Amino acid sequence: MTKKRLLSGIKSTGRTHIGNYFGAMKQWVDLVNDYDSFIMVADYHSLNFVQNAGEMRDLTWNMVIDYLAVGLDPKKVVIFKQSDVSAHTELCWIFDTLITMPFLMRAHAFKDAEAKDKEISVGTFNYPVLMAADILLYGPDVVPVGQDQKQHVEYARDIAEKFNHIFGETFKLPKEMIVENVAVVPGIDGRKMSKSYNNYIPLFAGDDEIEKLCMAIVTDSSGDVPTNVYAIHKLFRSEEELKAIYDEHKGKYKILKEKLIEDVKAFIKPLRDKRRLIAEDTDYIRQVIKEGGERAKEIANKKLVEVKEKIGVN
Ligand code: ADP
Ligand code: TRP
Repeated sequence: MTKKRLLSGIKSTGRTHIGNYFGAMKQWVDLVNDYDSFIMVADYHSLNFVQNAGEMRDLTWNMVIDYLAVGLDPKKVVIFKQSDVSAHTELCWIFDTLITMPFLMRAHAFKDAEAKDKEISVGTFNYPVLMAADILLYGPDVVPVGQDQKQHVEYARDIAEKFNHIFGETFKLPKEMIVENVAVVPGIDGRKMSKSYNNYIPLFAGDDEIEKLCMAIVTDSSGDVPTNVYAIHKLFRSEEELKAIYDEHKGKYKILKEKLIEDVKAFIKPLRDKRRLIAEDTDYIRQVIKEGGERAKEIANKKLVEVKEKIGVN
């Protein structure tokens, strides 16, 4: 029996944080033996935010190292750069001709940007369409992401249905995979942890940084349990273990933060050490990106040939 397929990715716009890890990356690692997996660095999506060549190269390179450091094994997972597979942008254009502006105007990300009176690039407006192409080229069964990406996977499904309806059955309808208790990891201010809110704990943070960030977790002085501290602590320990700790130190926010710091440090240290070792081997990283790109291209180009046949441009 052929294995089911998994595809996901992250745009390389900053430092990877524990929200990315628990919300998405951990699922990729946990599922690696059960699925034929494709994990990309969405660098063309990043281009909406990062418009400096040096920075772009650096962020993309570092994201690949992060993928390897969390335990993605390139022998089992195809790790690749979105921009290495031109079929993504080509299919994006084809989809662009089928869907309407009002359909894309319903996207949360677009509406948020518009509400803030931001100047919105066409690329930002079109973000869900490129993401649909990313997904549909590979025909994955599941797309493991955090809650904030759910609508994007729904877009991919709607676009696939529309294409299939017009040109005949071509794309498999993908499903998001969202793990409920980590769907939205909170940041140190209690809002969703996000690069854009600057409220995150980097996945490879140094000890000093961990201390500083955990001490800065926003607490209010009502109640015995500091909600935001507990919500982050829950990622690292079972509720039973936490109950004992939080009962023993009821209302002592500083001690509870120190307990959290110990746990975050213990979790991050091995990841940070592994990352440092991988980062030294630049030849290996280059090879991973090259081979991943080649394998991704084989699959994606095959699908694109089928699409071109269906639309009559071959
Ligand atoms: P950010 O909001 O920091 O820019 P991204 O949009 O790059 O994060 O997200 C990359 C992946 O990590 C996506 O699958 C996203 O759903 C997931 N993710 C990001 N932040 C969180 C969070 N706070 N909780 C759960 N998952 C998250
Ligand atoms: N939009 C995702 C993020 O912000 C990145 C992404 C691009 C993606 N293409 C994808 C995720 C395809 C899953 C599948 O991180």
